[in-house]
Amino acid sequence: MTEATAQAFVFFIAGFETSSSTVTYCIFEMACHPEIQEKVYIDIDQALKKHGGLTYDSLAEMEYLSQAVDETLRLYPSVPILNRECTREYDVPGTNLHISKGDAIVIPVLWKLRISWRDIPLTSYRAWLSVWKPTA
Ligand code: HEM
Repeated sequence: MTEATAQAFVFFIAGFETSSSTVTYCIFEMACHPEIQEKVYIDIDQALKKHGGLTYDSLAEMEYLSQAVDETLRLYPSVPILNRECTREYDVPGTNLHISKGDAIVIPVLWKLRISWRDIPLTSYRAWLSVWKPTA
């Protein structure tokens, strides 16, 4: 029972804020970029019509929606850092860095904070978002 309670707790913590803030930021970005919102709308509409409603197959075909969510996660990652513990001696290729077994590693996901926004090149996602055209 303790194990089940712990799993339920992790699912709630890991699944609630991550999903809700991603959806919120995605809707915010679409409000700021109505032309992208329109394409998301068309993408969803086409898939629903093709498969006769909200099904596994129609969801799998919403490629533009998927890219929009990916782009949202790039801009607003719900988990800004990942923590790991090194399990073996490791020389980082192309550098003189050595990571020892047992070292704590912090992997920055929210790199946006460290780079001026204007210096970031367009990612393939964002470029793709701007050129995508409905198929029908
Ligand atoms: C946009 C939504 C989500 C994002 C961005 C997200 C992100 C992440 C990330 C980055 C990790 C790895 C953390 C690490 O290894 O340090 C993780 C792990 C996990 N997530 Fe999510 N998550 C999302 C939704 C969910 C949902 C809906 C659930 C469950 C209902 C969930 C359950 C878990 C669990 C149980 C783990 C731990 C897996 C393990 O290492 O055993 N996540 N999530």
